[in-house]
Amino acid sequence: MTTATTTRHAAGVADAVKVYGSGDTAVRALDGVSVGFPAGRFTAIMGPSGSGKSTLMHCAAGLDTLTSGAAFIGDTPLSTLDDRRLTLLRRDRVGFVFQAFNLIPTLTVAENITLPLDLAGAKGSREWIDALVDVVGLRDRLHHRPAELSGGQQQRVAVARAFAGRPDVVFADEPTGNLDSRSGEEVLNLLGRAVRRMDRTVVMVTHDPVAAAHADEVVFLADGRLVDRMESPTADKVLDRMKAFDTKGGRS
Ligand SMILES: Nc1ncnc2c1ncn2[C@@H]1O[C@H](COP(=O)(O)OP(=O)(O)OP(=O)(O)O)[C@@H](O)[C@H]1O
Ligand SMILES: [Mg+2]
Repeated sequence: MTTATTTRHAAGVADAVKVYGSGDTAVRALDGVSVGFPAGRFTAIMGPSGSGKSTLMHCAAGLDTLTSGAAFIGDTPLSTLDDRRLTLLRRDRVGFVFQAFNLIPTLTVAENITLPLDLAGAKGSREWIDALVDVVGLRDRLHHRPAELSGGQQQRVAVARAFAGRPDVVFADEPTGNLDSRSGEEVLNLLGRAVRRMDRTVVMVTHDPVAAAHADEVVFLADGRLVDRMESPTADKVLDRMKAFDTKGGRS
């Protein structure tokens, strides 16, 4: 090592290629992407529609497999795991937030939050769940059911659920896509607080420069390739970078 400190990555991919289909209809959704998502940081993935953002997230999270290359959670290469171990790794070390909140309608807020732990037969730490409930601001809604909550509140429950098992990394695909801007802002602040106050790692796919500005760093995809990275993004800087995609196809 030539540097005094090295970055620990909570997840990442190396030389990742993902081809959907075959022959004439084959789509190269990832075309040789190498990227690490640093532990304890909030990373946003941006790029035009169809650039491979969701594919990258799904492959990095072990929800889908690469055609070639490697995906890692921590130091664990996912290709070395059989189905059972992969399922356990996803359950114990990865959290997810989706655009559709995916709460269980018959369960209360409290039950939805602890669902991953209950399924795992794990107790979890009561202090941790308690702290989470405060961070997401749902203490007075714990015994409500999802249908009794606003969209923003439901997504806050989904965020709390994603962090309940203290996963190494939480992946979020367009978590504010179904929310108005004020509720979206609350969810983004929440993800930022989880990273900065609770030392979590978040990787978020978004179309929205304002959402991306909540991250510590933005990585840009175009045509299945990593084309840029931006530290300390602002909405204006991200918007300017996105405009370049329209004029020169994103390759810089
Ligand atoms: N299951 C699939 N079968 C075939 N092609 C697919 C499949 N999933 C994605 N693709 C293709 O792979 C490419 C990348 O898709 P992906 O969903 O990763 O893009 P994205 O950047 O998330 O786009 P969006 O911003 O619209 O969500 C696209 O051309 C898409 O049509
Ligand atoms: Mg997508």
